[in-house]
Amino acid sequence: MGKVYLVGAGPGDPELLTLKAVRVISEADVILYDRLIGEEVLNFAKPDCKLIYVGKEDGKHTIPQEEINKLLVYYASTHRNIVRLKGGDPFVFGRGGEEALYLKEHGIPYEVVPGVSSAYSVPAYAGIPLTFRGIASSFAVITGHECTGKEKRVNWRAFGSIDTLVILMGVKNRQRIAKELIEAGRVPDEPVAFIERGTTNEQRTVISTLREVASNPPEVKPPAIMVVGEVVRLQSDISQLLENVKNYEGAYHA
Ligand SMILES: C[S@@+](CC[C@H](N)C(=O)[O-])C[C@H]1O[C@@H](n2cnc3c(N)ncnc32)[C@H](O)[C@@H]1O
Repeated sequence: MGKVYLVGAGPGDPELLTLKAVRVISEADVILYDRLIGEEVLNFAKPDCKLIYVGKEDGKHTIPQEEINKLLVYYASTHRNIVRLKGGDPFVFGRGGEEALYLKEHGIPYEVVPGVSSAYSVPAYAGIPLTFRGIASSFAVITGHECTGKEKRVNWRAFGSIDTLVILMGVKNRQRIAKELIEAGRVPDEPVAFIERGTTNEQRTVISTLREVASNPPEVKPPAIMVVGEVVRLQSDISQLLENVKNYEGAYHA
């Protein structure tokens, strides 16, 4: 019987892959991968590795989760090393936990290879520290995906006193989220950053306020991270500092 590795591929920049991820990807016989996995990451696979795309298209899974679970069990019976490759960290909003449980229930050996989550790495690449002495001593990572029907909705009031909020999958509902946060007692002038396609060459940052997002939300395209909190004000200073460092490096090596 084979073994399944639930592997985090990081947020996009292939240099943020862990050494362990590179090793298990290069040893894999089968890789089942998600939408945001870049070609550079898949290039670490063996030439004869079977690559199977199981990502989402337009918010819908091309292959339902139950089918993905079954495929993992099936390939574990036909191949030795199976990699389930997910963006960021497999246990941060990646349904990795569900897959691990399913494998456990079916007696399939598995191992989790944590990845660099977009939750903190994307703000970092944009020059936003999630904590900062004297400004933010706590942060929370929340799904902004509208949970309807039987699924429980996020209780935004519970986050009123957390300094920095990092919202994943929140682009579509950004206006409603901003309204809910103001109703929950957050200051309307609190700054908000949206970072699209973070850590890639297409990274773009949009700075706004809760009031503006609630009334006239800026254009933002998914995938993006929404950061709410005073730390967003540090963004321009830190980005400028990083630019200066690049210039100093250039000058030093010139
Ligand atoms: C299903 S969640 C998976 C999160 C992933 N497991 C992680 O740890 O980063 C997908 C969401 O993560 C965020 N995301 C992932 N990669 C991103 C990136 N490179 N830039 C901006 N947001 C990203 C977006 O909010 C996207 O809708």
